[in-house]
Amino acid sequence: VSETGCLSIVVLGASGDLAKKKTFPALFNLYRQGFLQSNEVHIFGYARTKISDDDLRNRIRSFWCVFLVACCSIMLMTEWFYQIKYVSGSYDTEGGFRMLDKEISLHEEFRNSTEGSSRRLFYLALPPSVYPVVCRMIKLCCMNKSHLGGWTRIVVEKPFGKDLDSAEKLSNQIGELFEEPQLYRIDHYLGKELVQNLLVLRFANRFFLPLWNRDNIDNVQIVFREDFGTEGRGGYFDEYGIIRDIIQNHLLQVLCLVAMEKPVSLKPEHIRDEKVKVLQSVMPIKDEEVVLGQYNGYRDDPTVPDHSNTPTFATVVLRIHNERWEGVPFILKAGKALNSRKAEIRIQFKDVPGDIFRCKNQGRNEFVIRLQPSEAMYMKLTVKQPGLEMSTVQSELDLSYGQRYQQVTIPEAYERLILDTIRGDQQHFVRRDELRAAWEIFTPLLHRIDDGEFKPLPYQPGSRGPAEADELLERAGYVQTHGY
Ligand code: BG6
Repeated sequence: VSETGCLSIVVLGASGDLAKKKTFPALFNLYRQGFLQSNEVHIFGYARTKISDDDLRNRIRSFWCVFLVACCSIMLMTEWFYQIKYVSGSYDTEGGFRMLDKEISLHEEFRNSTEGSSRRLFYLALPPSVYPVVCRMIKLCCMNKSHLGGWTRIVVEKPFGKDLDSAEKLSNQIGELFEEPQLYRIDHYLGKELVQNLLVLRFANRFFLPLWNRDNIDNVQIVFREDFGTEGRGGYFDEYGIIRDIIQNHLLQVLCLVAMEKPVSLKPEHIRDEKVKVLQSVMPIKDEEVVLGQYNGYRDDPTVPDHSNTPTFATVVLRIHNERWEGVPFILKAGKALNSRKAEIRIQFKDVPGDIFRCKNQGRNEFVIRLQPSEAMYMKLTVKQPGLEMSTVQSELDLSYGQRYQQVTIPEAYERLILDTIRGDQQHFVRRDELRAAWEIFTPLLHRIDDGEFKPLPYQPGSRGPAEADELLERAGYVQTHGY
């Protein structure tokens, strides 16, 4: 597989929100950093809307100028905009895709000279309902025809289905058209700096190796909070809910990296093999270890049905049945319209046996990895209170990325993942069997919620969520430490 030669990136759904907010900015940032040079790369937008190249450029520009103009030159932006071409067409007929193929081929002929190889990346910034037909059209009309190497790759966004059966159906439909090495299922949490750091942290530090198990760790929390509600996405969100939107994918992927065994090597297949084993070891979820919530005011959104039962908050305890983790609760918690915006992993250690300082009430050792905002890792530990008395206090060993790596700009998740796709590195993408195992864990609970058997509890926007979730946390063994 060639990693050089002419590269065409096609963003399908180019006039939509995801493309505007995430895909195009990521492509521009890669260009700005010298990764997607205009003599090799061309970007194609494809959507149903009948607009011109300039219209698309203006749409992107009008969303961006507020935050991008400040950090880069207008010239660079203008230069980049001329890499973009727009083709309009429907998603389920050949005409538009044939036109797209013609445009890509023209670009390839122009760039390739004679012996070059062509690389075609199709980014589906589209609702999953059209994935099968779009993939069929790509296969039929737009495959790379070069006999001299090159490739065609497809990037798909979540949600990949709504439960095990629908996800399997989708996987089968796409799997009939493209091989697994051609498919890149994005979970953008896998592109976050501190998520990517997890393997290094765990397997390159002697500190952690002997401690990372049920003998020392009491409980693990993986938390996602947002301080805003569904904001214009009520229609989409109501069909999915917080478990499908955040927990079944983003938080579960993080859990895999926290809990997996050491892979044989850093090869993507070795890493993904270990992640699948973790997912397959998760026990069925118990009713008493689930709390669901819905914020007051959620149903005021005109796109949300009046009697919606969809959770905007959930705390779910997962239990991993293996030698390392038996008895350690993994508490996954996610909510919209809460009191803060934060995503973090909190690993709480057991109490010190035979404590001679009687400092138990001051809190346990805890290792916190803050994914966002302000990436950081800190360890809560007990130290002597400075002064004449022998008393103890909780303090922190703190590695804040903003302070420690002042010269480094942390890349956006989408930049990294698009670059990985171009490089053919699938390590940070979800493999089909991982997806299946993830749905197997949550499908029974999701069906009961859909059937109205499990009702969300109301909570106030701007709060911590339902009080019952904190009670569940305590029952699972979490001990509140000072300042949290
Ligand atoms: C998306 C969800 O996958 O992740 C959104 O659909 C959520 O509901 C978003 O807001 C959060 O991403 P981030 O990177 O801001 O934590």
